[in-house]
Amino acid sequence: MAKGFRQASERDKKEQERLRNEGEIPKHVAIIMDGNGRWAKKKGLPRIAGHREGVESVRDIVEAAGQLGVDFLTLYAFSTENWKRPEEEVSLLMRLLLKALRDEADRLHKNNVRLRTIGDVGRLPEEIQAELSDGIQKTRGNTGLTLILALSYSGRWDLAQAFRAMAAAVRAGGLSPEDVSEQTLATYLSTAGVPDPDLLIRTSGEFRISNFLLWQLAYSEIHITSKFWPDFRRADFYTAVSDYQRRERRFGMISGQAGVSGGSSSYVHRLIKSVTGP
Ligand code: FPP
Repeated sequence: MAKGFRQASERDKKEQERLRNEGEIPKHVAIIMDGNGRWAKKKGLPRIAGHREGVESVRDIVEAAGQLGVDFLTLYAFSTENWKRPEEEVSLLMRLLLKALRDEADRLHKNNVRLRTIGDVGRLPEEIQAELSDGIQKTRGNTGLTLILALSYSGRWDLAQAFRAMAAAVRAGGLSPEDVSEQTLATYLSTAGVPDPDLLIRTSGEFRISNFLLWQLAYSEIHITSKFWPDFRRADFYTAVSDYQRRERRFGMISGQAGVSGGSSSYVHRLIKSVTGP
């Protein structure tokens, strides 16, 4: 029987409560988990030790995000470009992913997490595909956090597959080129139905998007930390959310216009809460 998520400690619960009172919790957080190899190197360990410890960070962040009330968490777990790594590392990563899926699927289900994937999953080993589809099937009715694993994913791959599908729909007569809008394109992307990320977190101090959700990140706030992914735990996640809450999101408009949210609306959010209660 899989164990449930650990109970949040009292201190942790207080921190989560404080964040909820301070401002909006981002609905969708996307993470570029980087630095596993460097973490291991710094400790004189093989790269796989970094990936293994990275799975611990995944577990902690999924748990914290669910408890905090984040609706969608997208993790860049394996990019299209990662296939070009040495065969041995790819194979070790696949084994680690398989083990993590086997170990965690029941626990995710028990905690009301819905599993979803984006990417060219047909390229993954068959046993991983089977494990993924079992996990997706099992958790499809859950109503808590949606955990989206980006596997064999890249933003350009996503756009290309969307254009191919749209072109096919045009050829079949179901779609006319004049009707193609930004909204139409969004429904052909692998993230259809998922709101764009409010917050993108990248670990290990690199200032790059690395072919992640190219279309979807158009207006996401970006938080970059120098910590390597295996060292990134819930306290760092809370710092990122806090950082997000201080931003003013203008979406190309000017401060004070309707729809503008973030830092200034955090103030309004606190004011309303002080009158109406949490
Ligand atoms: C980046 O570190 C990390 C990856 C390419 C893989 C991330 C995978 C995991 C954390 C494990 C499996 C995931 C799940 C969802 C269970 P890097 O190797 O690029 O590090 P470096 O830049 O320091 O070399």
